[in-house]
Amino acid sequence: MARPRSQPRLASLASLAVTAALLLAASHAETASYPYQFSHVAVTGGGYITGLVGHPTEANLLYARTDIGGAYRWSEPDNKWIALTDFVSQADSNLLGTEAIALDPTDPARVYLAQGRYLASNASAFFASADRGASFAVHPAPFPMGSNELGRNNGERLAVNPFAAHQLWFGSRTQGLWRSDDYAATWTNVTTLPDAFANTMGIYFVLFDAARNGTVYLGGSTPGGLYVSHDGGASWAALPGQPTAWDSATLAAGHPPYSDGPQPMKAVLAPDGNTLYVTYADYPGPYGAQYGYVYKYATRGRTNSSSSSSSSSSSSPPPLWTNITPGTNNNSFPPPYEPQAFPGGGFCGISLDLSDPTGQTLVVTSLDRDPGPALDSLYLSRDGGATWTDIAQLSSPSGTGGYWGHPIAQAKLANGTAVPWLSFDWGDEWGGYGAPSPIYGLAKFGWWMTALLMDPSRPGHVLYGTGATIWATDNIFAAAAAATTTQSVAWYIQAQGIEETYVETMISPSSGPAHLLSGFGDINGMRHDDLFVPQPMFALPAFSNLDSMDWAGQLPSLVARVGDCGLNFSVYGACGQGAYSTDSGANWTMFAHCAPGINETTTDDGVIVIDAAGDVFVWSTLLAQQANGPWASVDGGATWAAPAGDLTAQTAFLAADKVQPATFYACESGTVYVSTDGGQSYNATPPASSGLPAGLQCATPVVNFHKAGELWLALGARGLYHSDDFGSTWTEVAPGLQANYFSVGKAAPARRDETAVALFLWGTVASAGPHAVDGLYRSDDGGATWTRVNDDAHQYGGPNLILGDPRVYGRVYIGTAGRGIVFGDIAGPASASGSVANVAGTQGI
Ligand SMILES: *[C@@H]1O[C@H](CO)[C@@H](O)[C@H](O)[C@H]1NC(C)=O
Ligand SMILES: *[C@@H]1O[C@H](CO)[C@@H](O)[C@H](O)[C@H]1NC(C)=O
Ligand SMILES: *[C@@H]1O[C@H](CO)[C@@H](O)[C@H](O)[C@H]1NC(C)=O
Ligand SMILES: *[C@@H]1O[C@H](CO)[C@@H](O)[C@H](O)[C@H]1NC(C)=O
Ligand SMILES: *[C@@H]1O[C@H](CO)[C@@H](O)[C@H](O)[C@H]1NC(C)=O
Ligand SMILES: *[C@@H]1O[C@H](CO)[C@@H](O)[C@H](O)[C@H]1NC(C)=O
Ligand SMILES: *[C@@H]1O[C@H](CO)[C@@H](O)[C@H](O)[C@H]1NC(C)=O
Ligand SMILES: *[C@@H]1O[C@H](CO)[C@@H](O)[C@H](O)[C@H]1NC(C)=O
Ligand SMILES: *[C@@H]1O[C@H](CO)[C@@H](O)[C@H](O)[C@H]1NC(C)=O
Repeated sequence: MARPRSQPRLASLASLAVTAALLLAASHAETASYPYQFSHVAVTGGGYITGLVGHPTEANLLYARTDIGGAYRWSEPDNKWIALTDFVSQADSNLLGTEAIALDPTDPARVYLAQGRYLASNASAFFASADRGASFAVHPAPFPMGSNELGRNNGERLAVNPFAAHQLWFGSRTQGLWRSDDYAATWTNVTTLPDAFANTMGIYFVLFDAARNGTVYLGGSTPGGLYVSHDGGASWAALPGQPTAWDSATLAAGHPPYSDGPQPMKAVLAPDGNTLYVTYADYPGPYGAQYGYVYKYATRGRTNSSSSSSSSSSSSPPPLWTNITPGTNNNSFPPPYEPQAFPGGGFCGISLDLSDPTGQTLVVTSLDRDPGPALDSLYLSRDGGATWTDIAQLSSPSGTGGYWGHPIAQAKLANGTAVPWLSFDWGDEWGGYGAPSPIYGLAKFGWWMTALLMDPSRPGHVLYGTGATIWATDNIFAAAAAATTTQSVAWYIQAQGIEETYVETMISPSSGPAHLLSGFGDINGMRHDDLFVPQPMFALPAFSNLDSMDWAGQLPSLVARVGDCGLNFSVYGACGQGAYSTDSGANWTMFAHCAPGINETTTDDGVIVIDAAGDVFVWSTLLAQQANGPWASVDGGATWAAPAGDLTAQTAFLAADKVQPATFYACESGTVYVSTDGGQSYNATPPASSGLPAGLQCATPVVNFHKAGELWLALGARGLYHSDDFGSTWTEVAPGLQANYFSVGKAAPARRDETAVALFLWGTVASAGPHAVDGLYRSDDGGATWTRVNDDAHQYGGPNLILGDPRVYGRVYIGTAGRGIVFGDIAGPASASGSVANVAGTQGI
């Protein structure tokens, strides 16, 4: 995750005015300010959906949370999820993960988010909205949160008291139970709770009994961790008779459980408050669970209110606790796949159908029954857990051998738009990530299916999240009525609008079928022929992380990529960690050999660049032990040679000239290096004579795709530097720039110079005055004047990288650390009062 840079020093207003006047006089054409439109590049999911919640009374009011990419609200009219947390700034990027969502059952307009990615950061907050998340009050929280930590699959930790809507409760990870009496603005510690939460996961869920004022349940991450209060939290009691030990028949020989007894994961309460359903596992999840149960608890004691699967006769009341674990005691149909490979998994996801007033219709999911066979299942019961339908089995084509899945041809939105990248392959072809199905043509039914929702207002509409997307059906009940046991439930993808990839690299070649090729964490990369339509994943080799990509400046159809593939292709005479394509990324050829030191055990596979003519690949491995410069190949990756000359490190900061063949630039330990012989040797440019500041922190040189020898270095707080002579000499573009991220794109139409480019900078411009905010800026005149491109509502937690488009004036791609790829396009006519010399102009929107 990108770290926020230090803030710039304030220049004095006097010196700023002088500077601005000088630059204005010198500039040819001011940078015009335009309204901008921001869109997301459609991948559709791409990461772990941690939770789904639905409002109990308002139709179609659904929310989703993600571990690193914030929260979303479903918009039925827009037919997509709407991101709610894009206003989070780079400085606040820890607030881009959602630990919990709470809805006010008495007021559909109110929604609360608990925000904070990592426990190590003390930046955590409650976002409180009275307009369905269109705007939020941000209230710092007095304890850390961990939306991307272990146990993020459980919840919800946050709840609104249905009898007092101003009151919220939050089960924290490290500081016990907290209460707010002012709509999540301020919080007090509820110290009445016995300390049962020693294992750092804390309290997973808070559940109010909507039928009884003052009754609230808590689930803590420990055996015996279920508590109830009947007096609004003044006193607490452990639920009597709750399961605290493993049934030895459950445990597999040689595989001890991680916990001494079953630990509560999630729970739901029937609308009448009489039945509590609880899922259990031996590990917090989302990975690692080996064992688990599903139980129900008769909250009012031994009543006659519920049916039971127990063996007791129908005349005697049901027990307090009933083990309703699917797949046991012949209680599921079809029966479990045999033999089940270890581990059988725990249970986590659970959701109750509020349209069933008896509270006996529910779904649950198993957790970490992986790598199979069988894989994880989703189970439906309409009799309070007495019997279950194994929906995953019934949804799969026949003959999967336990590897439940959806035919990839059915991975489509409800309106037919395909989501083809979900067709991961497994086995020999895949690099190690656990998502792909081993069955060709199948998308895994799911893994990490912990976000599960029976839509409160649409009976039969069920959604479940996976580690990568959301699947939905309009009629889960079709399974029970089905005459056939194969594919008796129709599923579609309902994740459109959610973008939660971690972007590692992007390129925008100057010609070819696609303006954008992406490289992601976890899901390889894609060629985005249409930015609004999900695309297939790159073909083999499959990377679990795509680290670096480049295109040949004068042969844009030639592209190359390197990344993390945990497979050894040496036996096939190929390198699984690097490949090139001569058709813009449609078909790929693995390098015959990897650069020395790169193999299936390396997880960061370095930087690849291509010279302008497409004759030379240069691959920097980043390996500290290699005492030579980046490796060069002139034979398409068959052999790799170390360069002679001054550069003796596998630098992270490498670029190829996009116009002059055989020309490369590197920056290492504060020195710029240039090769004009195809990476066979590099010469250092001494900083003293170059004009660069001494002791600079290196950055990747950014080249002008129209002009040989023109490049920029974005040096953070040290500013933005420009060279027009192949890096020999440098000048500061303008004083007062904080240049954290930088790129170039197509020049403004008015520019007469055919080699000109537009400049994009993420940072601050003219660090004084009220407009000097961290943001995305564009300059059309080489940096003399700038205008802000984004606004405070479009910050996305800051970028991992930005990229101008060489073909579309004004367009800039923002690669985020959890919100996918966003791009900004000019959306309207220029404003006359637009930019100010070297001062942030009016906001784009
Ligand atoms: C399908 O839905 C998606 C998401 O709302 C939308 O982008 C796309 O245009 C729709 N396609 C059709 C054919 O309506
Ligand atoms: C947050 O952590 C930083 C670094 O450890 C510390 O300097 C700061 O005082 C902390 N802030 C709060 C509000 O605890
Ligand atoms: C709920 O209980 C509290 C505490 O006894 C009481 O103050 C409040 O008025 C009750 N609210 C409702 C709606 O019954
Ligand atoms: C909050 O209360 C719990 C006991 O329930 C205690 O362990 C914790 O230290 C308290 N935290 C703060 C910040 O007061
Ligand atoms: C028990 O069943 C009777 C008859 O259906 C009903 O009137 C009564 O309310 C039930 N008791 C409870 C506690 O649910
Ligand atoms: C399992 O349940 C089915 C359906 O209720 C029943 O037909 C079958 O006899 C049961 N099998 C066993 C071994 O109890
Ligand atoms: C990959 O396979 C080749 C050929 O079998 C072998 O020589 C090499 O040691 C393997 N690499 C690793 C890292 O095991
Ligand atoms: C190249 O890719 C295209 C599009 O994916 C495919 O139709 C074609 O068969 C591929 N050609 C080769 C030679 O693999
Ligand atoms: C794989 O790469 C690592 C890191 O460079 C290296 O230590 C190891 O020796 C390599 N293994 C083989 C078999 O080349």
